[in-house]
Amino acid sequence: MKKISTQVGIIGAGPAGLTLAHWLKKLGIDSVILEHRSRSYIESRVRAGLLEQNTVSIFKNLGLADRLLREGHEHHGVYLSFDGNRIRIPFGELTGGRNITIYGQQEVVKDFTGAWIDGGGELYFEAQAKQIQGLDTPRPIIHFEHEGEPAELECDFVAACDGFHGIGRQTMPAGSFNEYTITYPFSWLGILANVAPSSEELVYAYHENGFALHSLRSSTVSRLYLQVDNDDHVDNWPDERIWEELALRLGTKGWSLQSGPIFEKSITPMRSFMIDNMQHQRLFLAGDAAHIVPPTGGKGMNLAVADIKHLVDGLVDFYQNNSLKTLDKYSQTALRRIWRAQDFSNFMTTLFHKQSEHGSFTYQLQKAKFDYIQMSEAAATTIAENYVGLPFETFETNV
Ligand code: FAD
Ligand code: DHB
Repeated sequence: MKKISTQVGIIGAGPAGLTLAHWLKKLGIDSVILEHRSRSYIESRVRAGLLEQNTVSIFKNLGLADRLLREGHEHHGVYLSFDGNRIRIPFGELTGGRNITIYGQQEVVKDFTGAWIDGGGELYFEAQAKQIQGLDTPRPIIHFEHEGEPAELECDFVAACDGFHGIGRQTMPAGSFNEYTITYPFSWLGILANVAPSSEELVYAYHENGFALHSLRSSTVSRLYLQVDNDDHVDNWPDERIWEELALRLGTKGWSLQSGPIFEKSITPMRSFMIDNMQHQRLFLAGDAAHIVPPTGGKGMNLAVADIKHLVDGLVDFYQNNSLKTLDKYSQTALRRIWRAQDFSNFMTTLFHKQSEHGSFTYQLQKAKFDYIQMSEAAATTIAENYVGLPFETFETNV
């Protein structure tokens, strides 16, 4: 049986696992990554696109941002629209010059996987972690299956960066955490299309037919989303219907939406999910393994990377000072930022999605919130600073 050994055993080669592996390597700490899927699968899985400034800074410090800086699009503002009334939130003036970058998650995964393998890093594809044992010992073991054969990875710590359906959270004993969930009564139909973006900055829109979002991937590829019912299906959405609905929901005076061939269509349900403890003995959960935010506001991938920052702080304290003190505070430190993002993502979701009849009390409250953002610099600043991402120091100092 194949037996491998390392310092940190990482389950999952998503943004969380890959960022952790690279960061540890930079600090001289060894790790091995196990990834259930194939390389081509993870490199082509279309998901997030919005990177906070914090995330870009981390990627730059890791020396992994060359292509991101060349091909990513830095945005200095965002458009919000309500019933066709479009306003702009400028990040620069409201956040002291912070901003966001649009760059596809699968491009991040490609860059990080390539650099890891080219640098001699160990990453097993099609390697599914099945069981984690010995978490109460100094050398836990991850049992996994590779090429149909059982195998073992022995390590000092297990980082479960294995997404919402991974085994990390399932390994946490019952009673060691509480779960919190909101399931929303709507989903997102997301498309990628070969057409130049019709807006240089993102547009989030409330319309009586539901939410729409205009985003982009490059000067020739647009990324757009529509609110649909949970039981809806892509087959109900021929290209023509999608473009008509997007044009209607995103529309504003003097602006028109360009359409083009759609080459990707998928429907994603929306949920908020949290647990209040991300550690059990030598097992640490990071990213979607521990929390899901609804995508409105683009926080998921950024939270995964932020968790890794806190986990690295803890691992460094252990390997440099032989202390578990910072690691034992990992959950507490990470959760503060995660709850902030949960609140912002829920706020953006409930503000821009159709939740009840147009004209209802709920609608009037949504409209009143939008009006307030339009009339108050304080309200606009709240949106801007959460959207670009609060600096790590904010959470460390204001305890
Ligand atoms: P994942 O990317 O899910 O990676 C986990 C990995 O673990 C996977 O590769 C999986 O195959 C592997 N794995 C699972 N189980 C095992 C096992 N047992 N053994 C081995 N490997 C295993 N976030 C943003 O920040 N901005 C956005 O704009 C945004 N938009 C989104 C749009 C959509 C449509 C969706 C679906 C998500 C969006 N998100 C966004 C969320 C973002 O994509 C996720 O939060 C992000 O992928 C989390 O990264 P992760 O590394 O924690 O998990
Ligand atoms: C994208 C996705 C989001 O959820 C969001 O809020 C902004 C942008 C995107 O895929 O580009």
